[in-house]
Amino acid sequence: MAEPSVHDAARRRVDELRRIVEEADRAYYRGERESGLTDAEYDALRDELVALESQFPDLVTPDSPTQRVGYAGSEAFAAVRHTEPMLSLEKATTDAELQAWYDAAAGDEPGAAFAPEFTVEPKIDGVAVELVYRSGALVQGSTRGDGAVGEDITANLRTVASIPKQLHGGQVPDVLEVRGEVYLHKRDFEELNRKLVEAGEDAKANPRNFTAGSLKQKDPEATRSRPLRFTAYGLGRCDWSGHEPTSWSATRTRLHDLGLPVVDDATFVVAPDLAGVREVIAALLARRDELPFEIDGAVIKIDAFALQRRLGARSRTPRWALAWKFPPREGRTKVKAIDVWVGRTGRLTPVAVLEPLAVGGITIQHATLHNREQLAQLDVRVGDTVVVVRAGDVIPQVVKVQKELRPDDAVPFAWPTHCPVCGGEAESPADSPLSFCTNLACPAQVEARLFHFGQRGAMEIDGLGEKIVTQLVKERGVTSPAGLYRLTVADLAELDRMGEKSAAGLVAAIHDSKTRPLARLLVALDIRQVGSSTARDLAKRFGTLDAVRRATKEQLLEVPDIGGIVADAIVAFFHEPRNQTTIDELLAAGVAPPPEEAAATDGPFAGKTIVFTGELETLTRDAAKELAMKLGAKAAGSVSKKTDLVVAGPNAGSKLVKARELGVKVVDEQEFLRMTGRIA
Ligand code: IVH
Repeated sequence: MAEPSVHDAARRRVDELRRIVEEADRAYYRGERESGLTDAEYDALRDELVALESQFPDLVTPDSPTQRVGYAGSEAFAAVRHTEPMLSLEKATTDAELQAWYDAAAGDEPGAAFAPEFTVEPKIDGVAVELVYRSGALVQGSTRGDGAVGEDITANLRTVASIPKQLHGGQVPDVLEVRGEVYLHKRDFEELNRKLVEAGEDAKANPRNFTAGSLKQKDPEATRSRPLRFTAYGLGRCDWSGHEPTSWSATRTRLHDLGLPVVDDATFVVAPDLAGVREVIAALLARRDELPFEIDGAVIKIDAFALQRRLGARSRTPRWALAWKFPPREGRTKVKAIDVWVGRTGRLTPVAVLEPLAVGGITIQHATLHNREQLAQLDVRVGDTVVVVRAGDVIPQVVKVQKELRPDDAVPFAWPTHCPVCGGEAESPADSPLSFCTNLACPAQVEARLFHFGQRGAMEIDGLGEKIVTQLVKERGVTSPAGLYRLTVADLAELDRMGEKSAAGLVAAIHDSKTRPLARLLVALDIRQVGSSTARDLAKRFGTLDAVRRATKEQLLEVPDIGGIVADAIVAFFHEPRNQTTIDELLAAGVAPPPEEAAATDGPFAGKTIVFTGELETLTRDAAKELAMKLGAKAAGSVSKKTDLVVAGPNAGSKLVKARELGVKVVDEQEFLRMTGRIA
């Protein structure tokens, strides 16, 4: 009889799927390391489980992961029972599914009267939380958990700058349970990764996992140090004290007026019908890369609460909402080769060379494997089929190997004992995942350092691209930045892709770079631990390259924001004989940063101490500080009696309170810009 064996096979597969989904849920909801599954794989496995369970209803068990929304929390945080369950969303990726969702909603409505308005908004790829406000005060914040019970992460959520501790505006509801997503801006995530890499650590792979981990910190100060944001997208149970909004679009405006961040006007659309919805989701997909945060789709909601209530919910998902999922920024392809790239510090990075793969609108041919340890852990081999993810503008990376598709003859990658470029010895300390080429004269390192020297933020030499740099090293024997300043038009004109005219242009650009500000020169020198902001601090404090190179550790430690590790790195850099030669040569070649522009001694900011707090809307924090400092101000990190001015943006917290207590003048960003003369 065929039947029992089919049933047996289904039972085995259901068991297997449950184990996998269960494990992934646990990893995700506890903010642990990634489970190794991509989102699309997770969805596919979960969908398969749902399909099997509906085909064989007797296999459904109450503890199946399909019977709950998420994973119940760990013991580290107190449990919070949500007044109303936090649901998930049904998803659609095809027009037929969208239509089916619409038809199902219409089918429940009697007659032809079904003509609702819809809202369409970005589906933010972050972590769902609930905030409870009583009489306007934030009293509790929790994770979604399993939908019914989440974890109390109030203390951590209080540190998120965009979450108001107190609501304001006219009609503050008695009770407001507001749900939303905690997430990161792509720019903040990149900045964070830049800092990690600068400090010699590994970049974080996935912003959502990083966010989940940040919310589960034992110490709220650890959460505070991470640039998390919040956007409200829905409600739990509320008591509006008689001023109840009747639609989601009206609620969004009310939430905004209460001081809560909501999806902004540019991406929140009310669509009159399904055709309108289709247009909006297409437009949103086209704009995906422009948005400041990562989105994985659009959320479509029926706007009117009355109709939402009539439609109600299934066990895990409401009937009045739908997640339209965008194509994942991931794909599967084969590894043609594994290369090891040499960076400018000599760091060896394994890179998978791929059969071309189209992901999120671009073709990928390389994906990073990060370091020796990561490569060994994933056990990527030539010939393997791998899953590659490209999140935002982050470098594509291999996240998983499909071991079941591995060819029989695939052998583990043998980590090189010698630099693949220069043959010099490669150092692989047992206590570190990183490996380095130890030969400072390695052409790959020399090239990478020269290229860095001319980049934006450093000496900004127009036209000094990678291809030119490679030729300069290989064919013109340039080995140090000083060599650039000795190049003539004749030296360059003969190079590939060059000619008299571009050669003359490049020589002029190199010449122009001699007078770049000291901070740029310090960045160009590529001192470990010194990024652009430390370079600016150094330039401001010491004024000349000579003074910086002579600075003692003690003097360096006097600079705010410079600690022992950075000070040691700076001292070590200037003690290294090779670096001393490079600097002497640069000075001899005529590199001469102008003396630091003396800060203005008159005007509204001269000699004033300014503190920035809250979110700035037009300027970055760094740009605002730089602007103030140019005008003679000193930027400080905390408010005291000595503070002259506080510039406060939305969601400013304790610093603003302190300023008010001390009677320090407070202005908003617009007013600040007016004072600087940037705007009228
Ligand atoms: S509405 C009951 N709106 O997606 C409806 N959710 O897959 C509640 N999400 O749990 C969700 N952006 O964490 C909604 N604009 C948005 C969203 C959004 C992201 C998340 C949310 C939700 C999950 C469902």
